[in-house]
Amino acid sequence: SIIVLDFGSQYTQLIARRLREEKVYCEIVPYFTKVEDIKAKNPKGIILSGGPASVYDEGAFEVDRAIYDLGLPILGICYGMQRIAVDFGGAVVRSTHHEYGKAELHFNDEATSVLFDGCSDGTVVWMSHSDRVEKLPEGFKPIAHSDNSPYAAIADESRKIYAMQFHPEVHHSQEGHIMLRNFARKICGVDEKWDMGHFLKEQIKKIREQVGDGKVLCALSGGVDSSVVAALLYEAIGDQLIPVFVDNGLLRKGEREQVESVFKVHLKVPLITVDASEHFLVKLAGVTDPERKRKIIGHTFIEVFEQEAKKHDGIKFLAQGTLYPDVIESVSVKGPSETIKSHHNVGGLPDWMDFELIEPLRELFKDEVRKLGLELGLPESLVYRHPFPGPGLAIRIMGDVNIYDLDLLREADAILLEELKASGYYNKTWQAFAVLLNVKSVGVMGDNRTYDNTICVRVVEAVDGMTATFAHLPHDLLERISRRIINEVDGINRVVYDISSKPPATIEWE
Ligand code: XMP
Repeated sequence: SIIVLDFGSQYTQLIARRLREEKVYCEIVPYFTKVEDIKAKNPKGIILSGGPASVYDEGAFEVDRAIYDLGLPILGICYGMQRIAVDFGGAVVRSTHHEYGKAELHFNDEATSVLFDGCSDGTVVWMSHSDRVEKLPEGFKPIAHSDNSPYAAIADESRKIYAMQFHPEVHHSQEGHIMLRNFARKICGVDEKWDMGHFLKEQIKKIREQVGDGKVLCALSGGVDSSVVAALLYEAIGDQLIPVFVDNGLLRKGEREQVESVFKVHLKVPLITVDASEHFLVKLAGVTDPERKRKIIGHTFIEVFEQEAKKHDGIKFLAQGTLYPDVIESVSVKGPSETIKSHHNVGGLPDWMDFELIEPLRELFKDEVRKLGLELGLPESLVYRHPFPGPGLAIRIMGDVNIYDLDLLREADAILLEELKASGYYNKTWQAFAVLLNVKSVGVMGDNRTYDNTICVRVVEAVDGMTATFAHLPHDLLERISRRIINEVDGINRVVYDISSKPPATIEWE
């Protein structure tokens, strides 16, 4: 395996992700990990990540220098490069001009390195630094340069120590993945092919060690992430898992039944469904302000969850489907503060719910979670589900939320999804849903005048939901959706299509 020592860069997880894509197993550990602990993992090489600090800052993060004596290949990235430069007796200075963004990387002919095998001269790399190496340590040579960085990459080939000023792990570094692969395969000699099946086995082992014979509570939403967590935990600890699904009455048509049947057939977990729909609807009655709706739903969820947790003895752990993009800052560096931050993520659980958190997906990205879900045998219909917001249909009904409107929206939404699936567009889009506008307009059906509500159809393309564009659906598909909704849903006489992108609009309407 490859060990990544984390100095707190926002990109550290991307190093791991790129290596996983190359089927190289790697593990991220905090920069202060002791050499014995690193040795115990029996790695074939070490990568020093980037980091926000400067090597000359007071209290700058340092490694256990004994790692340099292990005789293992080492690759330093950005801060990792500066760390190596200083530790080996070179010098680092603060640049007068910072270097952020794309740069062309040129290889130094006199010192072609196996690190760049298969890469093209002039390849684009992503720079993001203000410090730079000024004086090379003894034994090091420049192996690549850019316009602004004579030492864009350096190496002491005899000791197999390499360092790069740029970030090979980010997407903008076009051939960065090749460099990381070369480091792992050609320089460190990693030859095992790692995949999600391995990840699954390791996580199961880890969870068993952490949980012992304790019980784990897991809140299910029916979405991909929480389902994968539940399935994974079930594999690991069987009936020590207590999966709780709260029906808040704001779900889509058939959603509760679908979740229940998936868990029955595929997982054999005794799923506890708490029907709290009435409770939620009473609390939401008459509320029209979007933020108040969200807050009420959040609080009510905790209330219900709290009541359920009290019914079970011996719960020590709470499992969550936190993904890497949710973990905004690099966490492993911060050590003990980890739990505190995650507690915040739960959305303010009451103090007495003093659970230890289990977050087995926190190193993964959405597409990796989907792969893991398939590995666990979850059906594709669940694994490739569109995201669905916690507050559910309540934020897709403009104005107050009531049973009548919820049913109406459910019908329209179901027709939309059915047509999208039939046309193949469901899998090509990030999210698709109907919004009940509570705008009435005049229509004519047969010989009769109607004065009914409007459904807005929202279908977007996105990579991570941070930005989105409306999907350019074929007009005949839009026509079919509109015709069916108006004909089949009583109370709707008009359908409109949302052609705004995010930003400046958001994906949801509230
Ligand atoms: P917006 O509307 O902010 O949505 O563009 C971005 C993505 O986040 C989802 N979303 C939520 N997910 N709880 C969630 O779990 C929420 O409160 C929530 N609000 C929005 C939204 O569906 C989209 O995928």
